[in-house]
Amino acid sequence: MNVLIVGNGGREHALAWKISQSPRAGTVFVAPGNAGTAIDAVNVDLQATDIPGVVKFAKSNDIGLTIVGPEAPLVAGMVDALQKAGLRAFGPSKAAAELEGSKVFCKNLLRTADVPSADYRVFRDIESATHYLTEREDDPVVVKADGLAAGKGVIVCQNRAEALEAVERIAGNREFGDAGKQIVIEERLVGQEASVLAITDGRNIITLPAAQDHKAAYDGDLGPNTGGMGAYCPTPMVSDKLLADVEATVLVPTIHQMKRSRRPFKGILYAGIMLTKHGPKVLEYNVRFGDPECQPLLMRMKTDLLEVIDAAVDGRLDEIGEIEWDPRPAVCVVMASEGYPGSYEKGYPIRGLEAAAALPDVKVFHAGTSNIDGQVVNMGGRVLGVTALGHTIAKAKLAAYQAVKCIRWEGAWCRKDISDKAIN
Ligand code: AMP
Ligand code: GLY
Repeated sequence: MNVLIVGNGGREHALAWKISQSPRAGTVFVAPGNAGTAIDAVNVDLQATDIPGVVKFAKSNDIGLTIVGPEAPLVAGMVDALQKAGLRAFGPSKAAAELEGSKVFCKNLLRTADVPSADYRVFRDIESATHYLTEREDDPVVVKADGLAAGKGVIVCQNRAEALEAVERIAGNREFGDAGKQIVIEERLVGQEASVLAITDGRNIITLPAAQDHKAAYDGDLGPNTGGMGAYCPTPMVSDKLLADVEATVLVPTIHQMKRSRRPFKGILYAGIMLTKHGPKVLEYNVRFGDPECQPLLMRMKTDLLEVIDAAVDGRLDEIGEIEWDPRPAVCVVMASEGYPGSYEKGYPIRGLEAAAALPDVKVFHAGTSNIDGQVVNMGGRVLGVTALGHTIAKAKLAAYQAVKCIRWEGAWCRKDISDKAIN
């Protein structure tokens, strides 16, 4: 079966690498891909948000399955368009992707389904939001733009003054455009964060081992928020019992409520969880694999992912049984361009990729890379996801950083403490 993977990040490289290993995979295409997917699969010159282009390509290249990686095309209805054209696609419909596309929809659904999450209020204008903040206790809150904002529309505030400024940025200056038409103001939760992902066909669900992302740019969780500077899996923060608890109190009621709302959810349901004193609470839902969580997860997956996704698309996930995992943990360290998450220079040659790839139990997943005249160069903020397996998290961390040491380009940097929360 020919497979098309849509996207160009580390997540899509990991998906292409894993799917290519399936005995059932024919040609694996990635649109648009990066310099890494060009090695493990075949790149297609199409943007990830080009819905008509992707449908046309899938039709004319005998694609048996399209896997949509990022949220933007899912929220824009790429899966619906593929299905309408009689093609098979993995990922939620436009209606179901609202779970990530609209924080207001998500919060309302969580409330209806009685899923533990932060208390919240929704505002449609700056005056009512300002009034609310001025009248209530000066407790820490989180201010969120309703729509997609490439992970930047969430502002965690220490106090009222910061919250008022956040409201001004979202609703006044419209820093995130139409994503800021509605604002959610919610209680700020404290605790460790974990990512719990599940694959679902709308009725059956398979929960994957919990991972932990590192969203802050710098060591010790300091600095601005990023797309994720590294992840590891499984995380000891989430015991088997806790994982079962999250499945029962969070994932299952969400899937049921989506079905009841006539928006059956099929694809990857990713719960961002805060492990609070009062138990696990949902911070947000994503409707796709996390990036970089996907890299350590798939590095550990032994079961044929194509079989699993195929079964999910056909609504027969119950036939899959247990997914088999490498017992060894995996750590993924993101190497970034100088200046990220702010602006950065592109086009620096990346050296040492072969030396890193030659290390045992290491895989260098590409994200923002491009191959220019035979030379791999940096093209994005997050450039590589250097991922390693080890018998313990500490050993996997060591192996990942040994591989990182092989790789250099001008201005390359990474966090030095990925997975330390699990080790300490
Ligand atoms: P999101 O884009 O919704 O994943 O939010 C990004 C990050 O903001 C999360 O990973 C958390 O670190 C933080 N965050 C979101 N909501 C809350 C909350 N209610 N309390 C504390 N932190 C939050
Ligand atoms: N790792 C966070 C995300 O994929 O949104």
